Amino acid sequence: MKVEELDETFADDAAQLWQNVGLTRPWNDPREDFERALRGPSSGVLGAIDDGELIGTAMVGVDGHRGWVYYVAVAPSYQGRGVGRELMRRAEQWLVERDAPKVQLMVRDTNEAIMGFYEQLGYDNAHTVVLGKWLGGEQ
Ligand SMILES: CC(C)(COP(=O)(O)OP(=O)(O)OC[C@H]1O[C@@H](n2cnc3c(N)ncnc32)[C@H](O)[C@@H]1OP(=O)(O)O)[C@@H](O)C(=O)NCCC(=O)NCCS
Repeated sequence: MKVEELDETFADDAAQLWQNVGLTRPWNDPREDFERALRGPSSGVLGAIDDGELIGTAMVGVDGHRGWVYYVAVAPSYQGRGVGRELMRRAEQWLVERDAPKVQLMVRDTNEAIMGFYEQLGYDNAHTVVLGKWLGGEQ
């Protein structure tokens, strides 16, 4: 398995993976999310590739203050083998290389079962409420 920064040819595979592991929501177009991350000057999507197949992702970006990770996903048949840990290690490395002093991520309150994964990797609950607003009109 190798981990590398993905190019646009992986858009469909990434969107499919995110759908398979339940990370997509009706108000987010996963393909557009992938392409936006590649378009941005300080963001990208890391992919774990095994024998030519995309088996995991972590979207990374820096906003000028913090580093962020989104769309952390491992294909169900590859879960529990350290792929997620390796993706997060590489995501953190990507952010450190871009001078981010801290990494943050959001976990949906419907996905609390996954908290154990992040705790294993040294992440703490920041006890912060995230507020949101659509820019350019409601979706
Ligand atoms: C979360 C996810 C990426 C983890 O990937 P993975 O490859 O299965 O994780 P790893 O095998 O690298 O596990 C790393 C460590 O976390 C632990 N872990 C993994 N999932 C866990 C869970 N749900 N609860 C508690 N611990 C967990 C593992 O036991 C392992 O510990 P160890 O290294 O001490 O043995 C994967 O389960 C997934 O894609 N889930 C669906 C999508 C999702 O919810 N993503 C998170 C969005 S915020």
